[in-house]
Amino acid sequence: MCGIVAYIGPKPALPIVISGLKRLESRGYDSAGVAIIESNGNNPDTLVLRKIKGKVSNLIEHIGEEELKGTVAIGHTRWATHGPPNDINAHPHRASSDRIALIHNGIIENYSTIKKTLHNRGHALLSDTDSEVLVHLIEEVMISGKMSLGNAVRVALKQVTGAYAIVIIDRENPTTLIAARKSSPLVIGLGEDGAYYVASDATPIIPYTKNVVYLNDEEIATLDLDKGLKIRTVSNKTVIPEIQALEIEIESIEKGGYDHFMLKEIFEQPKSIRDSLRGRIDLKKGEVRMSGVDDHWDKWNNASRIIILACGTSWHAGLVAEYLFEEFARIPVEVEYASEFRYRNPIIRKDDLVIAISQSGETADSLAAIKTAKDAGAHVFGVCNVVGSSISRESHSGAYTRAGPEIGVASTKAFTSQIAVLTMIALHVGVKKGKLPRERFLRLISELNGIPELVTKVLKQAELIDSIAAEFTESINALYLGRGYQFPVALEGALKLKEISYIHAEGYPAAEMKHGPIALIDEKLPVVFIAPKDDVYEKVLSNIQEVKARGGRLVVVVTEGDKEAASLADYVIEVPRCDASLAPLLTSIPLQLLSYKIAVLRGCNVDQPRNLAKSVTVE
Ligand code: AGP
Repeated sequence: MCGIVAYIGPKPALPIVISGLKRLESRGYDSAGVAIIESNGNNPDTLVLRKIKGKVSNLIEHIGEEELKGTVAIGHTRWATHGPPNDINAHPHRASSDRIALIHNGIIENYSTIKKTLHNRGHALLSDTDSEVLVHLIEEVMISGKMSLGNAVRVALKQVTGAYAIVIIDRENPTTLIAARKSSPLVIGLGEDGAYYVASDATPIIPYTKNVVYLNDEEIATLDLDKGLKIRTVSNKTVIPEIQALEIEIESIEKGGYDHFMLKEIFEQPKSIRDSLRGRIDLKKGEVRMSGVDDHWDKWNNASRIIILACGTSWHAGLVAEYLFEEFARIPVEVEYASEFRYRNPIIRKDDLVIAISQSGETADSLAAIKTAKDAGAHVFGVCNVVGSSISRESHSGAYTRAGPEIGVASTKAFTSQIAVLTMIALHVGVKKGKLPRERFLRLISELNGIPELVTKVLKQAELIDSIAAEFTESINALYLGRGYQFPVALEGALKLKEISYIHAEGYPAAEMKHGPIALIDEKLPVVFIAPKDDVYEKVLSNIQEVKARGGRLVVVVTEGDKEAASLADYVIEVPRCDASLAPLLTSIPLQLLSYKIAVLRGCNVDQPRNLAKSVTVE
């Protein structure tokens, strides 16, 4: 995943592009660069590139006091896919004639074939990247075909297989930007002063305008200060731009006084869950409103199976949904890692209903898995957090999680918002299919509606959790155990810890301990049990006793007032009592805080953990 920003308009371009790159750094941060067209009075304009390995801060230092003037620029912050992070592989890339420069997010799958052809035509490519091939191909087509840049981009992209979000500037046409996308996101902002902004998502655009156009796959936009915005497809069809008004505010992407975006997002969960529920639970009428479900009710009513496709934390939300749909709607559910599903030649039936879960809506494996399911005739329902994202637009129907921008690489509020939305859908489908008794439905939607206030209560234990975290900063392993609805929470707690503190952690069904992991137990190993009062509580209690008998260091998340489990624990965290099906919305919070604090105490980069990016748009 990389971050792309571009500007063309009346103002100096560099500061706009640089501040935009900072807002996108969570998408990739192993190298960064800018290209700007400098006007030189009566002499030809010059195309200036500055790029370097490392973060945007390195780029800023590298540019230093140099006065890079110019009102059209492109910028890029990279997460390496082809070629190691270094200055040469950093974007932008220019072609041989030094006339055009390009930034790219995605993967050009046939780049080595194209590279050979370009070599044979005398192009000297300097980097190991697939992106540089693209800029040389465009130049080759433009010069040999005597075409405009816009047409050359279109003809060149017809030769390309793979994913791209690109922006190109042309020294000989300094009033024009060209942008195009396929399977990687690109948003265009329309400034009141006639300026145009292009970015991988809306966050760099928000400070300047709320009017945006989301480019769709295989669309090429020409942003011309004189002629305006024009969009054509790679197959040369005209597209009328659909201007949308952005609803996210600039402050929503600042840290808001917290040390890290992740902590801000953990504490935003009462609000983000409330926003996910808003307008969808009607206690007066006793109903859940989910138009994305009702508009395709036949697909849900006739579904013989639900297949859930996701990755990472979203996959854990999918596991919670498996328990929800099987309990309330009595529909068999299979939860699949999208990366496995897409290559396994899966059996997909026309009456399968697929739920795709993705915070970013851009995860390459999830997007590809959806296409596999759609090709087989399944109905795809998307649960995404980013409006206008590829997965949301690839799905037949869906529901947004409305958690707001999630900047921290470790997903927190998106996870609980995914669960809130999936819970509403499972309850709605269950009662509508007559599988869930109405009086239980009414009780559950009322309790769900009250969850944000209970989350606020859980967050009040942050200091206690900080003190527990201090006990485990030197740990090298950890075990997370839970049963039933708490098994996915155990997996999620373990993922949180390992991805931001770099401590190895494993989540397991508590009963599985006897089948191997119990050999790991010793006085050094932290064992986190999630043990709220539910139907399997007594069984979990026995598992806790087994660990205690072997000297494990026990952190136990219990229902408030539960003295029995607490008496066995070294450290106790209480959560308010609630229905077992809603408990993941509460029990996952302490595990987020625990991993956050351990990571901070270990001096880890919490918002941008090593090797990770916020959205994995490459395989
Ligand atoms: C979550 O903490 C991780 N950063 C990661 O596993 C993430 O959930 C996964 O990459 C899926 O992303 P998506 O929800 O945007 O598809």
